[in-house]
Amino acid sequence: MNSRPIGIFDSGIGGLTVFKEVLKELPGESIIYLGDTARVPYGTRSKEIIEEFAVELAEFLLKKNVKCLVVSCNTISSTCLEAVQKVCEVPVIGVVDPAIKEAIKTTENKKIGVIGTNATIESGIYERKIKEMDSSINIFSQAGSLFIPLIEEGFSSHEAARQIAKEYLKRFDGTDIDTLILACTHFPLMTDIISEVIGSNVILVDSAKPTAKELKKLLTEKDLLSDNLLPVYQIFVTDAPDRVYKVSQRFFGNKLPVKPKKVTL
Ligand code: DGL
Repeated sequence: MNSRPIGIFDSGIGGLTVFKEVLKELPGESIIYLGDTARVPYGTRSKEIIEEFAVELAEFLLKKNVKCLVVSCNTISSTCLEAVQKVCEVPVIGVVDPAIKEAIKTTENKKIGVIGTNATIESGIYERKIKEMDSSINIFSQAGSLFIPLIEEGFSSHEAARQIAKEYLKRFDGTDIDTLILACTHFPLMTDIISEVIGSNVILVDSAKPTAKELKKLLTEKDLLSDNLLPVYQIFVTDAPDRVYKVSQRFFGNKLPVKPKKVTL
């Protein structure tokens, strides 16, 4: 048993999709969420800068005495999870491995597509890790960074989103994929259009639920679970907390349990 909070961090507010699932899976846990809204997006930045920012975010949460860290951002998890783990004396999990395991369980024809930010796709981590687990699987990747501002603007079901989805998803024409990994915190908010364009025979896998389950497993194994009757939630952002509060409903599916507070790293 350990009642210290879980830390979740992200380049912005997309990680609230993961926060939501962690809260469902682990209702007795206190959680601190940190989103770097002053410097989002990370997905079009270099690995060096993403790593520098990610370590700052992790250090902020470590000072809050978290018992573990969840890197909810696909871009950070893909480019520099190990660098974050190096500076942390607590367990750190990312979102790549849980999504990969889910996709491998899901695919029947061993053809998997991946769509994420430029940095995530350029890292090549999905191909590498999937091949390590099953070398007979074929992987097809596509960057889709334009979905992110569309989703944040509330345009996820707009005609403009459909047109962009058609452009991006062309990549998968003729590949015969039966599973598509949505390798970005935001993309679960666009499943309707993605599914419509790619076809309902392709199963969409995202990392939020599998990551929450993996976290529960980790806390159980390390005897770090907590059963707080009154868990405490804190949400910190590095800019524009009022905008975050307004937009957050889309990601969190509900009103946030607390109002976000602005912090300086
Ligand atoms: N959170 C990022 C991800 O999951 C998307 C936003 C960004 O580019 O920073 O990849």
